Amino acid sequence: MEEKKILFSAIQPSGILTIGNYLGAIKNFKKLQSDYQSIFALADLHTLTVKQEQGALKRNTYELTALYLACGLDPEQSILFAQSHVPAHAELTWILNTITYPGELSRMTQFKDKSLKHEDNINMGLMDYPVLMAADILLYQTELVPIGADQKQHLELSRDLAIRFNNRFGETFKVPEGYIAKSAARVMSLAEPERKMSKSDANVNAFISMDDDTDTIIRKFKRAVTDSDNKIIYADEKPGISNLLTIYTAFTGKTIEEAEKEFDGKGYGDFKLKVGEAVASVIDPIRQEKNKILADKDYLDTVLANGAERAARIAYRTLNKVYKKVGLLPRKRGYNVRLR
Ligand code: AMP
Ligand code: TRP
Repeated sequence: MEEKKILFSAIQPSGILTIGNYLGAIKNFKKLQSDYQSIFALADLHTLTVKQEQGALKRNTYELTALYLACGLDPEQSILFAQSHVPAHAELTWILNTITYPGELSRMTQFKDKSLKHEDNINMGLMDYPVLMAADILLYQTELVPIGADQKQHLELSRDLAIRFNNRFGETFKVPEGYIAKSAARVMSLAEPERKMSKSDANVNAFISMDDDTDTIIRKFKRAVTDSDNKIIYADEKPGISNLLTIYTAFTGKTIEEAEKEFDGKGYGDFKLKVGEAVASVIDPIRQEKNKILADKDYLDTVLANGAERAARIAYRTLNKVYKKVGLLPRKRGYNVRLR
C-alpha cells in the first residue's frame, strides 16, 4: 500500500477565529484532509509569545479544538493535537536555533508588526516564532502546508532551514511546499480594507468572528467601509467592495464575474445584505455545532490525547535522527521512553 503524503498545518488558539482564518486556513484543511495523512495542530506554544489573560489559553484551546471538529476535521482520519503535548516541537526548535541567524528573524514582517503592537513585551519567543513553526512542520516530514498568505515568509524560512540542515548534516528533512488558496488567502478588515482582517483588532466591527450570530454578521456587513461610486466590481482602487466580493464568492462558490453580473445595477445596501446572508448561512450551523461539542470536555480531552500520541510517534522518529546527525551522545534505551 502506498503511504499518503503528509500535510501539516496549525492555528494559534489565541482567540475566537475570524472568517479570515476560516477561508485562509480551515476551509482548505477540510478540502485537503483526505488526500493526505493530515496533521492539524493547535499552536499553543506560539500563543505564549503574546501575554495571555488568566485562563484564556486553556479556554481558547478547547474552543479551537471544537471548531476544528465542527468544521469537519476528522479526528480518526487526521491527527488533531496540541503542540505543547508533544515536547519534540520545543526540542527541535532548540536544534534549529543553532542554524538560524538573528538577521533572518529580525527582518520577518510579522515580527516587526508584532513588535510595534506589543512594545511592552518584545520577547525572544516573538522573534523565535518562525523557528518553532519550522520545527512544527519539519518534525513530520511534511510535504504540504496549507496557510494564509501572511505565513508565506515563515514557510520560506522552514524550507531554508530544512535545506541548510540537510546540507550540513546529510539528508534528514523533507523540504515542504506551501499551499496558499488562490482566492481569499488574505481577507481584509471590514473597517480598513487596506489591512488584514485580524481576530485581535480592537474594533470588533472590523472582523466577522466565527462566534457571531446571524444578526451581528448582517449588521457588521452593513457597516463595512466601502466607497461611494456605487459600482459593484472587483478593482484595485475599490478595496472595500473587492474584499466583499471575495468573501461573497468564497462563501457561495460563485466566481467574481458571476457575482458582478448578479449585482449589476444594484445598490451597495442590497449587496452588503446578500454578503451577510451568505456568510451567516455557513457560519451559523458551524457555531451551533461547535458549541455542542464544546460542552463535552472529556471528549475533547480524548481527541487531543489520542492525537498527541499519534503525533509523537512520527515526531520522535525525526527528532531521533536529528539528535544523531548533530552528534549528541545517544541516550540508553529505556532511559527516555520517547527515544527509541
Ligand atoms: P493565526 O490566527 O495567526 O494563527 O492564523 C491561522 C491561519 O489563518 C494562518 O494560516 C493564517 O495565514 C490564516 N489567516 C489569518 N488571518 C487571515 C486573513 N485575514 N485572511 C486569510 N487567512 C488568514
Ligand atoms: N504561525 C501560524 C499562524 O499564525 C500558525 C502555525 C504555527 C503554523 N505552526 C504552524 C501554520 C505550522 C502552518 C504550519 O498562522
